[in-house]
Amino acid sequence: MKAVFREKYGGIENLEIDERPRPKPKRDELLVEVRASSVNPADLYIAMGVPWLVRLVEGVGRPRKAVIGRDYAGVIVEVGNEITGFAVGDEIYGEATQTWAGFVCVKAKNAYRKPVSLSFDAAACAPLAGLTALQAIKKAPTVAGKRVLVVGASGGVGTFAVQLAASMGAQVVGIASTRNLEMVRGLGAAQVEDYEEPESLKSIAPCDVVIDTVCSRNFAEVLPWLAEGGVYVVVGATINMNSLLGRFAGPAGAYLKLMLAKKHGRRLAIVTAKPNDGIAEMSGLLESGQVKPVITKQFQLSDAVAALAYLKEKRPGGKISLVV
Ligand SMILES: NC(=O)c1ccc[n+]([C@@H]2O[C@H](COP(=O)([O-])OP(=O)(O)OC[C@H]3O[C@@H](n4cnc5c(N)ncnc54)[C@H](OP(=O)(O)O)[C@@H]3O)[C@@H](O)[C@H]2O)c1
Repeated sequence: MKAVFREKYGGIENLEIDERPRPKPKRDELLVEVRASSVNPADLYIAMGVPWLVRLVEGVGRPRKAVIGRDYAGVIVEVGNEITGFAVGDEIYGEATQTWAGFVCVKAKNAYRKPVSLSFDAAACAPLAGLTALQAIKKAPTVAGKRVLVVGASGGVGTFAVQLAASMGAQVVGIASTRNLEMVRGLGAAQVEDYEEPESLKSIAPCDVVIDTVCSRNFAEVLPWLAEGGVYVVVGATINMNSLLGRFAGPAGAYLKLMLAKKHGRRLAIVTAKPNDGIAEMSGLLESGQVKPVITKQFQLSDAVAALAYLKEKRPGGKISLVV
């Protein structure tokens, strides 16, 4: 089978796209013919082993798992003999590891029926980014009837966060770049503001929840956007790869500064997304069309390196899907 892999950490030019042996499912696993995956910033960090903290999970000296990729959507071709409830031919999706390949073995507990109304590539865009957004929203007691600000509203996580919060009855404000403002408005944001026009950000009235996928500001700068008693939910931070702290600890330095900051009656919540947590709820929202993955670019598996370069350099907005 074709797969995207690396034997050691390094730049994305180290990635190989070549034949690998097809994995064999254990008794509690399903063998899935992968039809699509998607590209997440995590794929880039895991492929490169930078920030170095990633290596504590992925393997210190060299990667424990050569094949990369997190999201998958595909068709079951073999069922481990301990498994009930799934059969050959079932269409499933979720988050697993080593998914940028023709076939992947997944534990049955990481397999979920693909929403029938969704194509494979749309479904494959939802697990990591969509469930991060859902888990971020769940950090607030409720968003119904509340004002929710999404910083990074045009990104993979942000496009889901805007739609999810709006579908739950929130009044959503989105911050994005000029070129993506209309897209964010179309996802259900009542107000959109342009971070390239910093003056416009002053017009944002205090919100009950701020979901920040960019985290380029200190707490004092975020404070005017947060109503008293509100929650600041941090999902990701811009990593300065030119600094030693950034290359070593990634967003951890920014998170530490936020934790130490005076909160003035606001709460801080930092998201560490749990794979597949909330996928049953997400499947319902996808099936009903209340939430739609925003795919801005599609690549073939054979162009996976170009897909990662595109994510790194072009910051496309929405999701990049990878067709296998
Ligand atoms: N905590 C977790 O478990 C978890 C899980 C998933 C992802 N993450 C992290 O969350 C972050 C976002 O992920 P993603 O998949 O959404 O990435 P993404 O698709 O690259 O989106 C990032 C978005 O940030 C926007 N942006 C850049 N600078 C901005 C600024 N100064 N103000 C407002 N928006 C700005 C960009 O908008 P424009 O295109 O409009 O410029 C871009 O669309 C990444 O750092 C990722 O590693 C964390």
